[in-house]
Amino acid sequence: MTTIETERLVLRRWRETDVAPLAAINADPEVMRWIGDGTVRNQEQTRASIGAWQRAWDERGFGLFAVEVRATGELAGLTGLAVPDFLPEVLPAVEIGWRFGRQFWSQGLGTEAARAALRFGLVDRDLDRIISIIQVGNSGSERIARKLGMALERETIDPNCARAVRVYDISKADYLAGPGRP
Ligand SMILES: CC(C)(COP(=O)(O)OP(=O)(O)OC[C@H]1O[C@@H](n2cnc3c(N)ncnc32)[C@H](O)[C@@H]1OP(=O)(O)O)[C@@H](O)C(=O)NCCC(=O)NCCS
Repeated sequence: MTTIETERLVLRRWRETDVAPLAAINADPEVMRWIGDGTVRNQEQTRASIGAWQRAWDERGFGLFAVEVRATGELAGLTGLAVPDFLPEVLPAVEIGWRFGRQFWSQGLGTEAARAALRFGLVDRDLDRIISIIQVGNSGSERIARKLGMALERETIDPNCARAVRVYDISKADYLAGPGRP
């Protein structure tokens, strides 16, 4: 079981009890606004996503973590690694992503979780490069990518929803050369 502790968070594998709180996050149009075509997801879709993420973990040894608040045990959201099959032009690649419930925004939790997931991918799993695909307009996510040391690599269109996206990336070498690494 892969678990990472940060100052305020625990990043861990998924549990059955995460379905309901993640479904509540996925049902919020503000949360989903910049994800795919912006459609919210219901409880069954959420359960199916968690199942797919667990299978990806078992197959690849990395995946999306459930992110829990240490002080309260609440599920705040998710961060971690996935293969971005939805954007074939960037493959092969591993993408870092994040999604938090609105009540958890603007406390630095997204950045704190993403930093831990990036380190997990580049150091613990020894990946050469990690990208992040962010829809144009999702300025909070672009801030996180830049704070992680990622740089803009290209701007393109997500063919599934015809929305403009920016691809950020960071190599392991650049990551390791950054301050306070690994
Ligand atoms: C993007 C998201 C994860 C940010 O989480 P968070 O916990 O609020 O992030 P942080 O508190 O670490 O803030 C990160 C930076 O983004 C900025 N930010 C946060 N929300 C923002 C918003 N709605 N608009 C503009 N900037 C925002 C913060 O000010 C901060 O920048 P700063 O350090 O320069 O002040 C969260 O808003 C979210 O879950 N959004 C919906 C899901 C989503 O879009 N996922 C990404 C798909 S690519």
